[in-house]
Amino acid sequence: MRQGKQSLDFVYDRPGRVIAVANQKGGVGKTTTTINLATALAAVGKRVLVVDIDPQGNASTGLGIPPDERRITTYDLLIAPERHWGGAAAVATDVPHLYIVPATMDLSGAEVELVNADQREARLKRVINTFKRAYDLVLVDCPPALGLLTINALVAADEVLVPLQCEFFALEGLSQLLHTIECVRDAYNDRLEMTGIVLTMFDRRNRLSREVVADVKKVMPEQVYDTIIPRNVRVSEAPSHGKPVMFYAFKSAGAQAYVHLAGEMLRRERHRPDGATPTTVEGMGS
Ligand SMILES: Nc1ncnc2c1ncn2[C@@H]1O[C@H](COP(=O)(O)OP(=O)(O)O)[C@@H](O)[C@H]1O
Ligand SMILES: [Mg+2]
Repeated sequence: MRQGKQSLDFVYDRPGRVIAVANQKGGVGKTTTTINLATALAAVGKRVLVVDIDPQGNASTGLGIPPDERRITTYDLLIAPERHWGGAAAVATDVPHLYIVPATMDLSGAEVELVNADQREARLKRVINTFKRAYDLVLVDCPPALGLLTINALVAADEVLVPLQCEFFALEGLSQLLHTIECVRDAYNDRLEMTGIVLTMFDRRNRLSREVVADVKKVMPEQVYDTIIPRNVRVSEAPSHGKPVMFYAFKSAGAQAYVHLAGEMLRRERHRPDGATPTTVEGMGS
């Protein structure tokens, strides 16, 4: 059993960046981006936690955590945020420095169970706040809806990363997502920033794909990442092997694109006013 082996005696002098990977459309590349970006960041030595907040548990499966090893899950954290979870909820993945709080189908009941709960929008935040000093980055893989689970991710987050698929209707729904982000900012989390849009499943032979890129760059020039993730069969095969694409087919165009995306993200962070790299506490290894 890998869960709970991780201790929190390793802490940074400032909390890690919490990034919600969100888009209420399904199948746009949220989970793929979460898994592979997290892996690429861990590969350059960052300590990264993925929080799977989608009842489908695709990020958990894609990172090789079988259902019988999902002992403490995001559901437990949301139902009892006051319990002192510490590092117990995080499972070490096969990727060094990469941990995950897994999800199971239980989570699909959480929205209903939490309807009358105290501070129901801020439950994930409450738990993440207790362990975000143990990581450089926490990536929250959201479900394909703007319900309470995604709201919990947005309330807990410092930033939102939005994957957009290079297909017709890519921008449809974006204004609704932006509106939700605005509402969360007003009501719960005025620090929340929209960090970036990442274009996924790009097919350069497809005129529509190229048009979507041009449109998104026109509408949101500041937010869109230069790195574009190509449609690549290795990317779609990797999860069935329980591996990130970097470990399944490192040289594939998809793996290399996620390595570039991680680099771009870290470069952008360095240019932010508060973007100093956190230092580790003396004498505490990972
Ligand atoms: N760059 C890519 N190339 C090929 N297939 C991809 C790529 N990104 C995602 N996919 C596939 O598209 C499907 C949807 O992606 P996923 O990340 O699960 O989306 P979401 O989490 O937004 O629902 C999955 O089958 C995934 O393997
Ligand atoms: Mg998903």
